[in-house]
Amino acid sequence: MSAANLIDGRAVAGQIQGELTQRIAALKSRGIQPGLAFVRVGEDPASKVYVGRKEKTSAELGIVSGTHVLAESTSEADLLKLIAKLNADPLVHGILVQAPLPKHIRQEVVYASVLPEKDVDGFHPVNVGKLMLGDDTGFKPCTPAGVLELLIRSGAKTDGAEVVILGRGNIVGKPMAAMLCQKGRHANSTVTICHSATRDIKTHCRRADILIAAMGVAEFVKADMVKAGAVVMDVGVNRVPDATSKTGTKLVGDVAFAEVQPIAGRITPNPGGVGPMTIAMLMNNTVRAAEQSIR
Ligand code: GUN
Repeated sequence: MSAANLIDGRAVAGQIQGELTQRIAALKSRGIQPGLAFVRVGEDPASKVYVGRKEKTSAELGIVSGTHVLAESTSEADLLKLIAKLNADPLVHGILVQAPLPKHIRQEVVYASVLPEKDVDGFHPVNVGKLMLGDDTGFKPCTPAGVLELLIRSGAKTDGAEVVILGRGNIVGKPMAAMLCQKGRHANSTVTICHSATRDIKTHCRRADILIAAMGVAEFVKADMVKAGAVVMDVGVNRVPDATSKTGTKLVGDVAFAEVQPIAGRITPNPGGVGPMTIAMLMNNTVRAAEQSIR
C-alpha cells in the first residue's frame, strides 16, 4: 500500500499542538493557565476512551483539566447544577459535556446551559447560530473544524468544489455543511448533504470532488462511489466483529479504505486521520477561550 496519498491527521494535529504551545506560554506569562472541565455521565466505554485521550493531550500541552464523572442515574437538575458551578469558576475556560448522555437527560437543555464563551464544543445555540451566520467570533464544533483544517493544510481546493457530506448529524454533518458553503476563503463549496432518505446516494457521491463520510455505517463508501482523484475524509468510528483480534472486534471507518485508497486523490487513514484533529481543535478552542477571557 502506497502512503503517497494519505492525509496524516496525527502529523497535522501535532503541528497544531506545537502552535498552541506558544500561545499557552504567552498566556502563562500573563498569569493565566488555560483550564478545561470534562463532564462524563455514566460509563459508556467509548466516551471513557475519548475523554481519556482529551485529558492526556491537555496534560501534554499544559492545559489544566479536571474530569467530573457522574452516575448514569444522575438527574438533569444535578447535571445543570454542576454546569452552573463550572460556568461561575474563573479557572475554567472551557466546558465539555461528553455525548451521548443518558436518555432521561435532555441533551439540548444541557448544551444550552453551558456559557457560550466556555462552550468549546460549539454546541450552544448561540455558537450554532454564529456558525450559520458566518460569524467567526463563536466556537465551531471540533470534528468538522478538524476536517476543514485537514482540507486546508493538505492543499485541497474548496472554492467551487462539489462537496458531498454523508450524514446530517448536529456534531458533524450539519456544521460541516455550514462551514463549507459560506462565502469566503477555505469555503465557497457547493455542498450536498446525503442521509438515510436520499435516493441514489452513489450518484451524488460520484460527483464529489471532496467526499466526507460521517454517517456511522461501517465501510459504507465503496470504490464505485468515488470519483477518481477525489479527496475522501473518513469521520466514522464503527466497532465491528473481527475474529482475528484478541478482543473479537475492531474499529473501522465509514469508508472501505483498502478499495477506495487507490482511486482517491487524497484520503484520511482511519484511525490516524480525523480523530486526532478533533482533539487538536478542542485544544485550540480552549486556548482561544482562555485568551478571550482577558479581553
Ligand atoms: N461525542 C462524540 N463526539 C463528541 C464531541 O465532539 N463532543 C462531545 N462533547 N461529545 C462527543
